Amino acid sequence: MNAHSKIDFSPAVSLRGVVRQFGDNRVIDRLDLDIAPGEFVALLGASGSGKTTLLRSLAGLDPIEGGELSAPQARAAVFQEPRLMPWKRAWKNVTLGLRVANPRARAVQALTEVGLAHRLEAFPATLSGGESQRVALARSLVREPKLLLLDEPFAALDALTRIRMHRLIIDLWQKHTPAVLLVTHDVDEAILLADRIIVLQHGRIAEALQVDLSRPRDNGQAGFNAIRTRLLALLGVEKDDPESLARDHNPFIAPGYPLSAIAI
Ligand SMILES: Nc1ncnc2c1ncn2[C@@H]1O[C@H](COP(=O)(O)OP(=O)(O)OP(=O)(O)O)[C@@H](O)[C@H]1O
Ligand SMILES: [Mg+2]
Repeated sequence: MNAHSKIDFSPAVSLRGVVRQFGDNRVIDRLDLDIAPGEFVALLGASGSGKTTLLRSLAGLDPIEGGELSAPQARAAVFQEPRLMPWKRAWKNVTLGLRVANPRARAVQALTEVGLAHRLEAFPATLSGGESQRVALARSLVREPKLLLLDEPFAALDALTRIRMHRLIIDLWQKHTPAVLLVTHDVDEAILLADRIIVLQHGRIAEALQVDLSRPRDNGQAGFNAIRTRLLALLGVEKDDPESLARDHNPFIAPGYPLSAIAI
């Protein structure tokens, strides 16, 4: 390293004392959070705890009422539903609003990356749920985000498609190295994907857990269960207590569900 070289350790995302409220309902309450460049963070929390609210402010879609929030300009978000324009073909959905010299070439590249090179001309109504989410993912990729915000993007997909999407997300993340904030209700999904898992409670980060498992990960891996047990305890869900699970309206508990036996 010479005298002039400088390594930039500044975080991709930095929140200090962030407040977000709707009338008297303070949803985010003086929240502090840093996300490092290229870090993959999963955000867990009970329904209504403010995960989407936080993500929308990070995406620049909503303001904040207090504190400081800094996030990269180049950011993109994918939500639970793909939000595609039904009257536009897949490739046009990908480049919607993008001002570049050759949008089609960019769309082809992004759709190829998500395995949809053969569906360039398809209209959204003719795509499966998983394909639609991959188009939404391609739409975020063409923006070359430094911060990728994912709000339960796999929640509406079947178990097998989810597994494929997990692999795809990890491949894309490793190739493009954005910082990622993934909102999920699925404890296993968080452990499979994230470098760090944070739990939102009462408007703040109640807990942060580093996931030091080697990749690729699977839920039979040594150490996986210990993290799961810890997270479930934090979230107030007893692992072998069906009533407690049912109480949390778990949409993913089904006999034989292969990946996410337990979600909140
Ligand atoms: N636009 C809005 N106007 C008023 N209140 C809102 C608005 N958006 C969210 N809220 C309130 O903020 C709180 C947090 O909502 P949010 O959608 O962020 O929860 P969440 O953690 O994403 O929940 P879920 O897991 O069910 O998606 C809720 O009490 C909700 O009613
Ligand atoms: Mg939400």
